[in-house]
Amino acid sequence: MTQDLMHIVEAHGQKQVLNFWNILDESEQEQLFRQLEELDFENLDSLIKEYVLQKPEMHIPEDLSPAPYYPLEPLDEKQQKLYQQAYATGEKLMRDGKVAALTVAGGQGTRLGFDGPKGTYPIAPISQKSLFQYFAESLRRASVKYGHDFTWYIMTSKLNNQPTQDFFEKNNYFGMAPENVIFFVQGTMPAFDYNGKLLLEEKHSLALAPDGHGGTLLALRRSGCLEKMKKDGVEYISYFQVDNPLVSIINPLFVGLHAKENAEMSALMLAKTGPFEKLGNFCVSKDRLMIIEYSDLPAEFAEQRNTDGSLKFIAGSPAIHVISRSFVEKLTAAGRLCLPWHRADKKIPYINSDGIKVTPEEPNGVKLESFIFDALPLASQTMILEADREEEFAPTKNKTGVDSVESCREMIIERDARRLERAGVKVPRRANGRPAVEIEISPLAVMDDEDCINYCRANGITEIVDNGKPVYLK
Ligand code: UTP
Repeated sequence: MTQDLMHIVEAHGQKQVLNFWNILDESEQEQLFRQLEELDFENLDSLIKEYVLQKPEMHIPEDLSPAPYYPLEPLDEKQQKLYQQAYATGEKLMRDGKVAALTVAGGQGTRLGFDGPKGTYPIAPISQKSLFQYFAESLRRASVKYGHDFTWYIMTSKLNNQPTQDFFEKNNYFGMAPENVIFFVQGTMPAFDYNGKLLLEEKHSLALAPDGHGGTLLALRRSGCLEKMKKDGVEYISYFQVDNPLVSIINPLFVGLHAKENAEMSALMLAKTGPFEKLGNFCVSKDRLMIIEYSDLPAEFAEQRNTDGSLKFIAGSPAIHVISRSFVEKLTAAGRLCLPWHRADKKIPYINSDGIKVTPEEPNGVKLESFIFDALPLASQTMILEADREEEFAPTKNKTGVDSVESCREMIIERDARRLERAGVKVPRRANGRPAVEIEISPLAVMDDEDCINYCRANGITEIVDNGKPVYLK
């Protein structure tokens, strides 16, 4: 350890991280040294003051109003024309190679409790395809349909990057050309105890955690991905989370409206099912779009209703965005992440001053994360488009219950059954309305209604027969 760094660590009141320095071997010293060297101690001091030593209070602006959005169905002929034109624009941008897909997959997936990166979870109800395979095959289908090999950017974290890349390697990139699958690693933030002291996870290692999906922006720059996008002529990023297999990986209408509106960042929205549904709320203050988390939106806003009884703050966020490359370039030009931090009180295992590993039963410290949606108020122009929840959103957060593996699989079956019905196929249904058989359509064959019609016609499918066996169409 250079004396310089040692002095910096001490000067910033963090010398406890060097408690075991003298008993570490050379490679362990090297590891701790590298981690400390990467920290911006000046910046950490102010973060500790602002977010760790106190709980930052959420200030709700007085002028808060619901955000305007384009509805699912066009309201009139003029809007219908706009949607048609936007769809065509989006398709052209896709054909011309101006759009890339980006999945954020750096989270720790603690709620799912699965041993491995979440994207490797076998989510498909019949084929048991993993989330990554499901997206890869959707992209392959889109590449055929639009005559352009889409590039897929996947953000991982230091904790899951290697296993994620190994998974793709082992599975031959699910048929994608390896050069079209680009992994980039997000940044980390150290964890603190309640006194603002950095915690050690091991004697030779700080307790570090991924810096939140907001870290995408800076990671794109630092990894050279922004440069690559520019070189490849990519102007728009179709952003989605790794846990939502229903998402249309690139949505022509969404991309087209974003481009037509000259938006820097756009968002899909879902109509909330109730005032307190656990989705971020799209709101506007001082002409700036923002998302206020469900836990932060006071009841006097959440419960406001229109004269027809519908919720005023109806727009909830499924975390699906189109982001202009130029916007990411602008936001990260100074080489720093310009988003606010969010504090999470967590149980953080640590090494105590006696060198003993402690696994706390109660939260003992703070992790800081940044959120991608905090970039919305920084955009000069934004656009929100309503999406059909049943068609676009099946988050896999938990093992069972709400937003779980179970509910996600049911939604895939239901979505595929509806697609078949819209293509004129008879699907057997139970008295409760659920499909009588498990149905799954491979995303390699069908990515939208048009595909489904053509697929059923080409394969002579007019009826799904209930013979007690699952029906897998590929
Ligand atoms: P979640 O907020 O659901 O977090 O992430 P998570 O880590 O996956 O799961 P829990 O909360 O520990 O159970 C939403 C999306 O953002 C990504 C996740 O991989 C997921 O796609 N994410 C989250 C990142 O890429 N990096 C992060 O630091 C956090």
